[in-house]
Amino acid sequence: DAGKSGYDHYMLKEIHEQPRALRKCLRERVDGIDGSVDLDLDRLDDADRIHLVACGTSYHAALYGAQVLRERGVPAQAFVASEYDRTTLAGETPLVIGVTQSGETADTLGALRTARAAGAETLAVTNTVGSTAARECDQALYVRAGPEIGVAATKTFASQQLALHAFALWHSADSIDPERIDALRSLPDQVQSVLDDADVESIAAEYADSSAFFFIGRGHNHPVALEGALKLKEITYEHAEGFPAGELKHGPLALMEDDAPVIALVTGDGERARKTLNNVKEVQSRGAPVIAVTDGRLDVEQYANHVLTVPETDPTLAPLLANVQLQLLAYWIAARLGRPIDKPRHLAKSVTVE
Ligand code: G6P
Repeated sequence: DAGKSGYDHYMLKEIHEQPRALRKCLRERVDGIDGSVDLDLDRLDDADRIHLVACGTSYHAALYGAQVLRERGVPAQAFVASEYDRTTLAGETPLVIGVTQSGETADTLGALRTARAAGAETLAVTNTVGSTAARECDQALYVRAGPEIGVAATKTFASQQLALHAFALWHSADSIDPERIDALRSLPDQVQSVLDDADVESIAAEYADSSAFFFIGRGHNHPVALEGALKLKEITYEHAEGFPAGELKHGPLALMEDDAPVIALVTGDGERARKTLNNVKEVQSRGAPVIAVTDGRLDVEQYANHVLTVPETDPTLAPLLANVQLQLLAYWIAARLGRPIDKPRHLAKSVTVE
């Protein structure tokens, strides 16, 4: 218990350690944009496309990283590691990035070995120095989140996202927007303010007995919608699913009920946010309760039963703030249901079988 620093669970402690973890990752990863990073970037720059392979929460970080890379003009795609084989490579030799906090996940190691056998350059993005992934890959990028005890990944997810974001900026370092760097530097304080102002417990209590939970988000918010659902199902044992917001009308809308809340990520005021707001209206008119995570730039409040607020930032970084609210929502629902939060049944921190 001493290791929990007064928190009831490691998970809650680790959620609150995110500002510190992100500060460390920023210091060592983003400040390295000037070239003082412990990677041979020339070797990595040779790759004209990138595959990211990962499992579980790390796969969601990989999906996010692939989006940021594509936004920087680098063709990048994320794959579930257990689905990655020679046919996925299709005769090409991309740079293959294994995203794995432990560096020991068998499926991810298998995908990286497949890539290496096909002649691809490999990079491990990991939290564990000296792990198998770090040793077997050509290079390693450490996310520096510190040890994570809770089975449900929290701070390592945030640090993986930030490290991949920094990596995407290095890849096109000649066109780095100083505003983006400022936004990255503000991120730890903004996460701290989400934690300081969070007011999720009463919402968790109201919805703990729901029949299901649905998470929707678009663009950079899509991986975080998937992660919000994964976190909730892992630690509450309740049914939870994440969708790209636009897919709602292609099936999931049939599931909308008054005892199954939809958690909608609506950040920014661009086209994606506006379209997601339309999806929120569709949900609301079908009678499902809506919990919106928003920075308040669009008038979401009138279509939502509850609003969880995050500060304004660059649209590519807003998901990292929204995710903190989703972590807390999952945590407080699990606490309400009396689940063993740090050690959910049937799950392991690191899965070393395929
Ligand atoms: C297990 C854990 C997850 C984790 C996944 C990948 O399933 O329970 O929390 O996301 O493995 O782990 P890795 O160490 O490769 O990131």
